[in-house]
Amino acid sequence: MIARILMPLALALMTLTPAAAASPDQQRGKTFALNNCARCHSIDKVTQSPLKIAPPFRTLHKRYPIETIAEALAEGIVTGHPSMPQFQLDPDQIHDLLSYLKTLE
Ligand code: HEC
Repeated sequence: MIARILMPLALALMTLTPAAAASPDQQRGKTFALNNCARCHSIDKVTQSPLKIAPPFRTLHKRYPIETIAEALAEGIVTGHPSMPQFQLDPDQIHDLLSYLKTLE
């Protein structure tokens, strides 16, 4: 009897949890952004960028398709960043970072 009540509950929890928790990719992407980008860009859903002229990451997808950002990252973003050391990311890092960016949309 109890099982008939608990089983659906357990199933519901199992399907809900992955959506709520960040995947490992997203987690790595967030860590990367925190370490490399967060001193200029806002990397969350609410705050202003520490450096005013740097667009908050949550707005990037409105300016560019996320895929073009991937390309820019692979080639090394230079143009948009007058005051920034050039970044060249490897494909794994790009994948992680974009997974994280998508969570901000
Ligand atoms: C030292 C400060 C600084 C850091 C660190 C920094 N950025 Fe930026 N970023 C800027 C500024 C300033 C702009 C806006 C430049 C402009 O609009 O001309 C910008 C713009 C961008 C843009 C938009 C480019 C465009 O052409 O509009 C992207 C994408 C971006 N940054 C990604 C990143 C990523 C990814 C990181 C971390 C790996 C990072 N930035 C770290 C300062 C920084």
